[in-house]
Amino acid sequence: MTRLILLGPPGAGKGTQAKRLSASLGIPQLSTGDMLRAEVKASSALGLKVKAVMDAGKLVSDDILIDLIAHRIDQPDCRKGFILDGFPRSLPQAEALDRMLGERKAKIDRVIELKVDVEALVERIVGRFTCTKCGAGYHDKFHRPKKDGVCDQCGGTEFARRADDKEEKVRTRLDAYTAETAPLLPYYKGRGVLATVDGMASMDAVTRQMSQAIGTVGVA
Ligand code: AP5
Ligand code: MG
Ligand code: ZN
Repeated sequence: MTRLILLGPPGAGKGTQAKRLSASLGIPQLSTGDMLRAEVKASSALGLKVKAVMDAGKLVSDDILIDLIAHRIDQPDCRKGFILDGFPRSLPQAEALDRMLGERKAKIDRVIELKVDVEALVERIVGRFTCTKCGAGYHDKFHRPKKDGVCDQCGGTEFARRADDKEEKVRTRLDAYTAETAPLLPYYKGRGVLATVDGMASMDAVTRQMSQAIGTVGVA
């Protein structure tokens, strides 16, 4: 059983690394950003409610997110564990997560902080795009498809960029991280579950560091 949280500012590489760990550990990536974007795309009641807040780069309210995750972790694919990507993002969310796991006689095993240089984040984010068919992530400069315009993984030829990936929105998202999410670092450090990896290293090096941090789960 491995229950992980990936913590880090926008563009730190949470999604990139969560996908890799999900494949190697055989547990799902629970990205609240992806879940919310799917609701927006489907124009569901929830999607219509959160669209403007997300597009502005601000945080969606805690009660909505807590509800979303509480339902998700009870799905059968989460029985062997999960990788939280983008949740919790505020102290009330972290406390609610502790409560819901406690009720299920479970706990978080490791919180991995991706430590990055804030100046590099804007470049990472504004260059990012994903395959609309399979969700594979790419970057104009750091990770281009092998053949231009064709997804390496599924052969898809359509790509999309996120509405909140414009430079001015990225600044708002960084401010939200500093104000609301960064306080989770001392919170988890105090619980003895925090591990920090160098998010500025190459993608492969980051994956290796994360695997090491997870390998020590249970060793304390
Ligand atoms: P969310 O989707 O979670 O966005 P985010 O936190 O802003 O993070 P990103 O997805 O932008 O970055 P990432 O760390 O995943 O980086 P990535 O791997 O793509 O949330 C979006 C919105 O949803 C929020 O603003 C909010 O409105 C709402 N929301 C979601 N959860 C919420 C919650 N719990 N509470 C309230 N609201 C919530 O990497 C970025 C780029 O860099 C990629 O192109 C990648 O190829 C490249 N890259 C990655 N690693 C490296 C590396 N080591 N070297 C070079 N390039 C790299
Ligand atoms: Mg992401
Ligand atoms: Zn694809």
